[in-house]
Amino acid sequence: MYRELPVGTVLNNKYKIIGVLGQGGFGITYLASDLDTENKYAIKEFFPRGYSRLEKDLVIPSNMTSSAFESRLISFLNEAKILLSIEQENVVKVYSYFRENKTGYYVMEYVDGIQLEKYVKKYGPLDTKKALAIFIEICKGIEAIHDQGYLHGDIKPENIIINEEDEKIKIIDFGGSFKKGSFFKINIISKRYSPPEKFLADSYLTPSSDIYSLGGVLFFMLSGTHPLSYEERKMMFNLNFPYGDHKTRNIIKKSMDQIPEKRYKSVSMLLKKIQPSNILSKLFL
Ligand SMILES: Nc1ncnc2c1ncn2[C@@H]1O[C@H](COP(=O)(O)OP(=O)(O)O)[C@@H](O)[C@H]1O
Ligand SMILES: [Mg+2]
Repeated sequence: MYRELPVGTVLNNKYKIIGVLGQGGFGITYLASDLDTENKYAIKEFFPRGYSRLEKDLVIPSNMTSSAFESRLISFLNEAKILLSIEQENVVKVYSYFRENKTGYYVMEYVDGIQLEKYVKKYGPLDTKKALAIFIEICKGIEAIHDQGYLHGDIKPENIIINEEDEKIKIIDFGGSFKKGSFFKINIISKRYSPPEKFLADSYLTPSSDIYSLGGVLFFMLSGTHPLSYEERKMMFNLNFPYGDHKTRNIIKKSMDQIPEKRYKSVSMLLKKIQPSNILSKLFL
């Protein structure tokens, strides 16, 4: 028994696994190459932490019914469906999904780059212009997701990949996404990036919930540190910080307001606030 599929395993009669890109609570992401074209792809496998395998097959843990597993698998494959409908250069492209080995997979473009979290740790906090230029690209991706009627649900620096040469960015990881306006069901919480309303059972989420996380990502790029969690902020709420210019600080404060109604209503409104004065964004056109 092992957790990851070994290098050399062929999936869907088409993709040969050549390595592991990442592992999280719900899945394993592999680097694979097409047997015919040798093009590289990233393939995400639904494989929750703690599960095991028999040969290649996922084994459902004894405390879970197969119908409960099936519904989780369906919501995983739903991530792929959401992504199939979104075509925007800052959102990772998904090509297909399939079932195999008693679980499910989706095939994505392979993004050459590192997580924004690692990027900032490696190069240090970004200056305001650069942070805003990258932020605009992230916002455009999220705007496209919202336009399709979904919320991302788990925006944070580790779910954004940046290319170290051209600084192009791609949003990945739709494990926490759901239809806009629906009651919040999937319990994906990232302590420092999730808005307060996400900590409540059955709260009603709107685009302003993603906007809170976006504010956190901008804070992270400027400061090099993760924002305080919602609970820490409750204890010593003071969002005064020395990073960025006055206008950028206000954008972060408004995006991360504890009260959803006080944040920007939409990513488009947030973008309008940033763009008029930001000439550098043209570098990314
Ligand atoms: N399309 C991709 N191209 C390159 N690397 C990827 C891709 N998708 C995911 N990864 C890598 O795998 C890691 C885990 O993927 P992610 O979708 O965030 O899953 P989770 O956080 O649920 O494990 C990412 O942080 C990233 O480093
Ligand atoms: Mg992730």
